[in-house]
Amino acid sequence: MSDESPQVLISEADISQRVDELAEQISADYKDKGEIVLLGVLKGAFILLADLSRRLTIPRSVEFIAVSSYEDGDVPSGAVRLVMDVRSSIEGKHVLVVEDIVDTGQTLHYLIEMLKSREPASIKACVMLHKEHSTEVDVEIDYLGFTIGDEWVVGYGLDYAEQGRTLPYIGVINP
Ligand code: PRP
Repeated sequence: MSDESPQVLISEADISQRVDELAEQISADYKDKGEIVLLGVLKGAFILLADLSRRLTIPRSVEFIAVSSYEDGDVPSGAVRLVMDVRSSIEGKHVLVVEDIVDTGQTLHYLIEMLKSREPASIKACVMLHKEHSTEVDVEIDYLGFTIGDEWVVGYGLDYAEQGRTLPYIGVINP
């Protein structure tokens, strides 16, 4: 990442307001369903998951999962593999996958199909950012923060070479 600060794309205040709205909507949608499992996809989702989980007004538990893209040289091949699994069974549970970004859609598609085979009561996705024009695989995003263009973004969990994850806003960089 260059020495210049990323240019603000979505401010801390706008993120906070959107997370409030998402939490309110999710709390209303699940209010009669008992506990939901918030399933954060490491690493990028850790900040959204922390903020969202503390704003919900419904019973919730937290789990994490980690995946990695297979690379062909330096180029992602599109295939995804599981590198860390959840600790508790999700069978019969209401699962909400929490992601920072959907780019090609490969990761979320893989996760949803893999998790569905474990027979949860329901499975939905909450995603902060959607790069609509890069999406190659159709994925359903039930709760979306913002749609963005095809730009490099960091902050709010997103990194460039592990830099910028803890910025409180979402910014654009020229790597
Ligand atoms: C990012 C992001 C998603 C995935 C989305 O993860 O967190 O999991 O890419 O891309 P896709 O829609 O093209 O599959 P990354 O591999 O950068 O790992 P990280 O979350 O640990 O930064």
